[in-house]
Amino acid sequence: MASKKKTATNKDDIDEEVIVVDVEDENEPTIEDLPGVGPATAEKLREAGFDDLLAVAVMSPSELADQAELGEAVSSKIIQGAKKLANIGGFVSGTALLDRRKQVQKLRSGAQSLDELLGGGFETQSICEVFGEFGSGKTQIGHQLAVNTLLPVDQGGLGGEVFYIDTEDTFRPERIAQMANGIGIDPNEALERIHVARAYNSAHQMLLVDEIKRMSKSVDVKLIIVDSLTSHFRAEYVGRGMLATRQQKLNRHLKELKQLSDIFNAIVLVTNQVMSKPDAMWGDPTKAIGGHIVGHASTFRLYLRKSKGGRRVARLIDSPNLPEGDAVISVVEDGIRD
Ligand code: GTP
Ligand code: MG
Repeated sequence: MASKKKTATNKDDIDEEVIVVDVEDENEPTIEDLPGVGPATAEKLREAGFDDLLAVAVMSPSELADQAELGEAVSSKIIQGAKKLANIGGFVSGTALLDRRKQVQKLRSGAQSLDELLGGGFETQSICEVFGEFGSGKTQIGHQLAVNTLLPVDQGGLGGEVFYIDTEDTFRPERIAQMANGIGIDPNEALERIHVARAYNSAHQMLLVDEIKRMSKSVDVKLIIVDSLTSHFRAEYVGRGMLATRQQKLNRHLKELKQLSDIFNAIVLVTNQVMSKPDAMWGDPTKAIGGHIVGHASTFRLYLRKSKGGRRVARLIDSPNLPEGDAVISVVEDGIRD
């Protein structure tokens, strides 16, 4: 299991950490315990960044073969072994699922109406897709959640750190500093705990997910943001003929992100720009390009719409267990507020 750096600041947080995080255990199996893994293979795996079972278990044979320079048959066997040892093979009991659900944490946004809409806040172990037209506030929400994640759990945060994949060069440290001031945390410390990477194309964007896996050994990751999820994919896979490939790639990307959210009990927040349709106000925003697959992979879909006086209306779409509804929020200097 990934070891976790403690960022807890008081005893309450430490108790929470014990419940939430897999604590490293001397008796826990390691990659050396995998069938067919001798010292040489173990070293190859570790060199490629696979030093725990879960990281191996979630790979596909061809990817593992590629990254760790192993044969595909060997990789396949290793993955099977890792799935068994890490106990993520197939079906689990409802009780086990309930146990996992009990570990879900909620991150508050700064706007109470939005938190209520989401049943208490943004949930870990899930992907939240924030979609809406340009300027609707998707990036602002990303910045705000990044800052809030740093807060201790008893203050509505997750007491962890953030990875921010920035595809459009819209991450602004100055904005983070303003929002940090807005909730009374030190801007410099906040910026230290938000790790940003600019993704230059869709392939790079997907590689950065592996980088997060690697870095997570020393960072307690609780929020991963991909802003925007879809822009590179749209720019690179243009036209009908490319649609299927684009959706396949996006689907794989989302699957990998979902795995991270499960492994780290973290939130994945992705943004997706869609055109507003003047003829259908609330019409069918889910029909957006790329929207379909993204929609299926996300657990929460939040549609943002600009409204009068600089306000934004957030609507929860297609939630399996929450009623649909609206929340009115505004973007002010301190960040996102009611
Ligand atoms: P695209 O990425 O273009 O699709 O848009 P987006 O949905 O990411 O929009 P974004 O989150 O960048 O929202 C931009 C809007 O947020 C601006 O038009 C402003 O209204 C508001 N905003 C951004 N920064 C500030 C700020 O410092 N103070 C205030 N009051 N509002 C801000
Ligand atoms: Mg944006």
